[in-house]
Amino acid sequence: MEIKKVGVLGCGLMGSGIAQVAATAGFDVTVLEVDQKYLDQGFAGMEKSLAKFGEKGLIQETPQAVRARLKGTTKMQDLADCDIIIEAVIENVDEKKKLYAALDGIVKQDAIFASNTSSISITELLTSTQRPERFIGLHFFNPVPLMKLVEVVRTIATAGDVYDTGYEFGKKLGKVPVRTSDKTGFIVNRLLVPYLLDAIRAFEEGVGSIDDIDNAMKLGCGYPMGPFTLLDFVGLDTTYYITHVMYDEFKERRFASPPLLKRLVMAGWYGRKSGKGFYDYSDPNHPKPNKL
Ligand code: CAA
Repeated sequence: MEIKKVGVLGCGLMGSGIAQVAATAGFDVTVLEVDQKYLDQGFAGMEKSLAKFGEKGLIQETPQAVRARLKGTTKMQDLADCDIIIEAVIENVDEKKKLYAALDGIVKQDAIFASNTSSISITELLTSTQRPERFIGLHFFNPVPLMKLVEVVRTIATAGDVYDTGYEFGKKLGKVPVRTSDKTGFIVNRLLVPYLLDAIRAFEEGVGSIDDIDNAMKLGCGYPMGPFTLLDFVGLDTTYYITHVMYDEFKERRFASPPLLKRLVMAGWYGRKSGKGFYDYSDPNHPKPNKL
């Protein structure tokens, strides 16, 4: 099947990023949100990002031409003729299932449903629809317009041609798709999450300070960000949530939240987005490690 029209559920950081790359790749995109104010915020972010790409000559067309392919809506009905729906709403199983169930009766029957979830089982999500064979995971990385990877997730119920279409669609978006199966965390988080949690444990055990551990991994391994900078960037609440899902699945200590992560989240220190996490972002250009 050919994908022409893309529906994106959610216009937050991930949803707006996915919508932007799909429009940049030439697809007509409609983004669904619950409230116009979230669409306005997400579209403002996309316009800023597209302007940057435009200035640097990194897109073939003008930012305005890409923007013209992007529509926002608060009505599910506007997604009825989409060929693929990519969900990027809050990481809450019940919310996601409710949304899929409602859209299942509205969106044309041969459309593919995809989820950008980083840890929830795709198999659990597909049970809320009558199209289990047309359901895949498409897991993007933050910031979506810059990160080249998309994990394409197959479940035991996914039809072969649907999976192949999803994989080729990933390429058309200008990403490098990798094939993976519906095991919690897929490839990246299976390896990344224990590493990030180990960095917190190393800090708790006095192996090094926040900035020394960050510098060690950045300069010693060539990583673009050290583990604490990355944790604050991903969001400590998001990471904490992922640890729960992964620990619940595997019952292994390497996926369990260290006490410090839990306490930071309880205190509302979610990282960059809340202004405080492992670092303090009062001066966003010069974050300072917090005394923890
Ligand atoms: N759109 C357009 N341009 C953008 C942008 C965006 N969304 N975000 C950043 N840029 C631009 C910046 O403005 C900057 O431009 P100038 O050079 O003109 O100033 C340029 O990109 C480079 O950015 P920075 O100077 O801020 O820093 P950088 O060189 O370190 O690159 C980065 C930023 C790409 C994020 C890099 O630090 C990086 O790769 N970090 C690791 C990110 C990562 O690991 N992400 C995955 C997280 S895990 C996840 O997402 C999945 C999950 O399930 C939790």
